Amino acid sequence: MPFVIAVDGPAASGKGTVASRLAALYGYPYLDTGLLYRAVGMALLRAHHDLDDPIAAEAAARLLDLKALADPALRGAVAGEAASRTARHAGVRAALLELQRVFADQEPGAVLDGRDIGTVIAPGADAKLYVTASPEVRAERRWKQLTAQGEDISYPTVLDDIRRRDARDAGRDAAPMKPAPDAVLLDTTDLDIEAATDAARRIVEAARAGRVFRP
Ligand code: CDP
Repeated sequence: MPFVIAVDGPAASGKGTVASRLAALYGYPYLDTGLLYRAVGMALLRAHHDLDDPIAAEAAARLLDLKALADPALRGAVAGEAASRTARHAGVRAALLELQRVFADQEPGAVLDGRDIGTVIAPGADAKLYVTASPEVRAERRWKQLTAQGEDISYPTVLDDIRRRDARDAGRDAAPMKPAPDAVLLDTTDLDIEAATDAARRIVEAARAGRVFRP
């Protein structure tokens, strides 16, 4: 049975960093599932389709070419917003489900990060983390990342984007962003990358040992 690590949480909470470091530590493959939704959103934008059109969005998800995931434009703010708008459609989520489940079902294990990994994609995951941080700290991290990528965007705009995206992701009907009942919460507001990774590793080690982690 593969050992599956599910890492969920809101934008710029540190989940991607934690997930990729856990994957490197255990030698498991890592899937950033947000990239799938970002790629669908960008495909729709480029084809001048309406992001709110469920039929066009589902068709784009079914036609998704995994080579598109390497596109650096997917890391930008426009792609993040487009992803969140297309990720609301149940048909889009259904189209991307199997690919994620197959990824999770690899020996000896896999790490996936997203919004619904512990709840929908891999509800039987061996270790579930819900990584969060205050909106202000997340906005600061995302603003630094976007400006380092060359985007011209202000901190207040990034904070607004994050708040709007949190509300949309948590409020949708299809696989809303929420911690699985058995997820361990990891608040990275006051943690740097090393400390967050260390805390995440301890949560996973506790799960490996068959214990429930008590911070
Ligand atoms: O990096 P960041 O956390 O900002 O975003 P992301 O993980 O790349 O996800 C972008 C958007 O895709 C999110 O705001 C969600 O709306 C959507 N998403 C989702 O619905 N389910 C997932 N498993 C991953 C992402």
